[in-house]
Amino acid sequence: MFSILPTSLSLFLSSLLWKTRETTSQLHFQLRHTHAITDHSRIIFSDEPRALSAETFSIDTTSITTYRPPSFSAFSNARYRSLRRLESESLIWSATEVRGPDVRNREVLQLLANMTANAYTQPDGKSWYDLGPDWNATYPYGWEPDADGFRGHVFVSTDNSTVVVSIKGTSLPWIHGGPTTAKDKLNDNLLFSCCCARVGPTWSTVCGCYEGGYKCNTNCVEKSLAEESLFYPIGMNLYNNITYMYPEANIWIIGHSLGGSLASLIGVTFGTPVVAFQAPGEQMASQRLHLPSPPSTQHVTHVINNADPIAMGVCTGVSSSCAGAGYAMESRCHLGNIIRYTTIERFGWSSNVMNHGIKVVIDKVLSDETWEVPEPSPEDADCWSTECASWTFDKDTDSIELL
Ligand SMILES: *[C@@H]1O[C@H](CO)[C@@H](O)[C@H](O)[C@H]1NC(C)=O
Ligand SMILES: *[C@@H]1O[C@H](CO)[C@@H](O)[C@H](O)[C@H]1NC(C)=O
Ligand SMILES: *[C@@H]1O[C@H](CO)[C@@H](O)[C@H](O)[C@H]1NC(C)=O
Ligand SMILES: *[C@@H]1O[C@H](CO)[C@@H](O)[C@H](O)[C@H]1NC(C)=O
Repeated sequence: MFSILPTSLSLFLSSLLWKTRETTSQLHFQLRHTHAITDHSRIIFSDEPRALSAETFSIDTTSITTYRPPSFSAFSNARYRSLRRLESESLIWSATEVRGPDVRNREVLQLLANMTANAYTQPDGKSWYDLGPDWNATYPYGWEPDADGFRGHVFVSTDNSTVVVSIKGTSLPWIHGGPTTAKDKLNDNLLFSCCCARVGPTWSTVCGCYEGGYKCNTNCVEKSLAEESLFYPIGMNLYNNITYMYPEANIWIIGHSLGGSLASLIGVTFGTPVVAFQAPGEQMASQRLHLPSPPSTQHVTHVINNADPIAMGVCTGVSSSCAGAGYAMESRCHLGNIIRYTTIERFGWSSNVMNHGIKVVIDKVLSDETWEVPEPSPEDADCWSTECASWTFDKDTDSIELL
């Protein structure tokens, strides 16, 4: 493995993310605002004690059709039958109308991007984005000093109508340090590599499924993902807790990078609106985890700038900066819709991992008031033929003894 990074790489990567301050703080809920749904499908928050003041805030929502499994246990049973016995069971998905964020509105994307950036830090941190008076309630989760994985914040609007679960992405060891770096890297390499992060002969792989000559045992990879990639089950558990606490609320799941991919995997499981920023392709992981696929994943929206090689799936190969840092980010295809900001064409940027950070999206892309939000559209049809194209995947159906 590469343990020493070129200084230039560490320097430019250090501008990407966030300093983590390992402190704990207790936040409190307050009822300060009321909301009304107007005929323009907006939720307007107004300041209760000073109802006549001009200080109001609104977030545009829109009606979104999502698909929900009949129950969580039906979903899990279908998933396990598929994983263990390769039997597919068709689930009866029900179409449900929910209120989701209006992703065609730049300010909505800005607010959600600010919230995903906050998942890397704490409210007293220097890089914490102030979200205004309507969102000061947050439950931090996974911040205990010995917690080693899934982490972020849950933002609750002061009237409890909307709950946004923001999931942290990858913390880089030479920037943040902290307890999550090792698990983050393991998850990145499990979820987004073609075959156990077998990028080259010098790599120590994260699972033993490589069979030589660019051949990979698919069942073995799936088993490793199900066993090792604990973020997904923890995320489901968190989601269940939140629906229990806020049964009436609109729940949205968001995240940046790894956090965005996990947001999507959880959102597809529960039929929840998702906005993911600069996430690596998660379609392969959803397949490998045997997540039953709903009739549509249109409730998942990816926001990507095309100068980010990680989200674009081009930070690949032994000599890429991702591989140089020990990350095998090889997947490319995304679920749902993609809002593609063509920063290469508009700003003359070149493809560079420096453009992967959430701060770039907030400061350079979403702050540009003259740039209308691009039309969301699904992944290009040829994406799948270019993903892990140099690999042959073996499915040994005889010896299935998964889980
Ligand atoms: C997000 O953060 C940026 C930078 O601080 C700020 O300019 C913007 O107003 C914030 N947007 C929202 C909707 O909170
Ligand atoms: C929430 O709002 C109250 C009242 O304005 C304020 O005292 C408190 O510090 C806020 N909390 C956060 C985390 O911003
Ligand atoms: C919001 O939810 C919290 C936690 O469940 C609860 O304590 C509080 O009373 C709720 N506030 C409103 C306005 O319903
Ligand atoms: C969900 O709630 C249970 C019971 O309160 C708790 O033990 C568990 O840690 C929670 N899970 C998450 C991910 O917060």
